[in-house]
Amino acid sequence: MVTGTSSGIGRACVDELVRTGAQVWATVRTDADEKALLRDHPTAVRVLRMDLSDPDSVRAAGERVVADGPLDGLVNNAAAALPAPLEHVPLDAFRRQLEVNLTGQLAVAQAVLPALRQAAGKGRQPRIVQVGSIVGRIAGTVHGPYHAAKFGLVGLTDSLRAELAPSGIRVVLIEPGAVATAGWGTLAAALAELDEKLPARARDHYAEQIAAARASAVRTGRRGMPASHAARVIVKALTTGNPRPRYLVGPDAYLGAFVAKLPHRLRYRLLAAKA
Ligand SMILES: NC(=O)c1ccc[n+]([C@@H]2O[C@H](COP(=O)([O-])OP(=O)(O)OC[C@H]3O[C@@H](n4cnc5c(N)ncnc54)[C@H](OP(=O)(O)O)[C@@H]3O)[C@@H](O)[C@H]2O)c1
Repeated sequence: MVTGTSSGIGRACVDELVRTGAQVWATVRTDADEKALLRDHPTAVRVLRMDLSDPDSVRAAGERVVADGPLDGLVNNAAAALPAPLEHVPLDAFRRQLEVNLTGQLAVAQAVLPALRQAAGKGRQPRIVQVGSIVGRIAGTVHGPYHAAKFGLVGLTDSLRAELAPSGIRVVLIEPGAVATAGWGTLAAALAELDEKLPARARDHYAEQIAAARASAVRTGRRGMPASHAARVIVKALTTGNPRPRYLVGPDAYLGAFVAKLPHRLRYRLLAAKA
């Protein structure tokens, strides 16, 4: 089961899984995305309608999967980005970000765990693969809500891994660097809107950081690695005999992991977060 398969890494995962001969449950939110998936994969894919901010839709999707029998893998991929300086982000919007990028991942795991347990009971090696990010290790300006959720996902993943290990269910964290997906275009548009709507009292402090984040989003959308690259790593984590607990994906992820291990003063100086 792969969540968030309308585009980007989720869609590439579906394509890669089908290529390996898997049967896939794929979640989307619109009729158009459901049709597109079924057009390309009429027999190997079954589509679920699920919105992470709607607990009933998560529960209903889980019930369909569990009723169908054992499940060999969940890829918790769906997420969205809410850019905003933390001083000014409306708390309701911050809560929604955590709902979609952190609580939602737990909700999906809870909903399908009975099916993963069925697979474990049959001697198979079921897995939960969490799509985190290198920004679950290094955080910076303007993306605080998203970074907070990705840092949270690291702890959630480690706890889940420890709790499910005795049941034979592996939990793996994928930490990609920049991947060229539609997500960056959406983010650049959100940053432009943020810039327009920024209250005057915030402009003095944050306009520069927002402009830099916007330029970086446009650049990264062009320069990131192809989604198929991340998808291949995710499918490896799902299928290899003894998956690693974590997979960094892309050279910038390895660089970020290196920076995250530096002494704090040096690390924050490099990240321009020196107080
Ligand atoms: N792109 C990168 O550089 C990068 C780097 C590191 C990690 N990641 C992570 O990789 C994953 C996929 O990102 P992507 O770049 O492939 O982005 P994307 O192309 O924007 O895809 C995001 C997917 O999540 C779905 N989604 C968003 N909000 C949802 C909600 N409330 N309920 C259900 N589904 C929802 C989207 O569906 P709709 O089309 O309906 O909105 C879409 O299918 C995310 O977890 C992201 O944090 C991405």
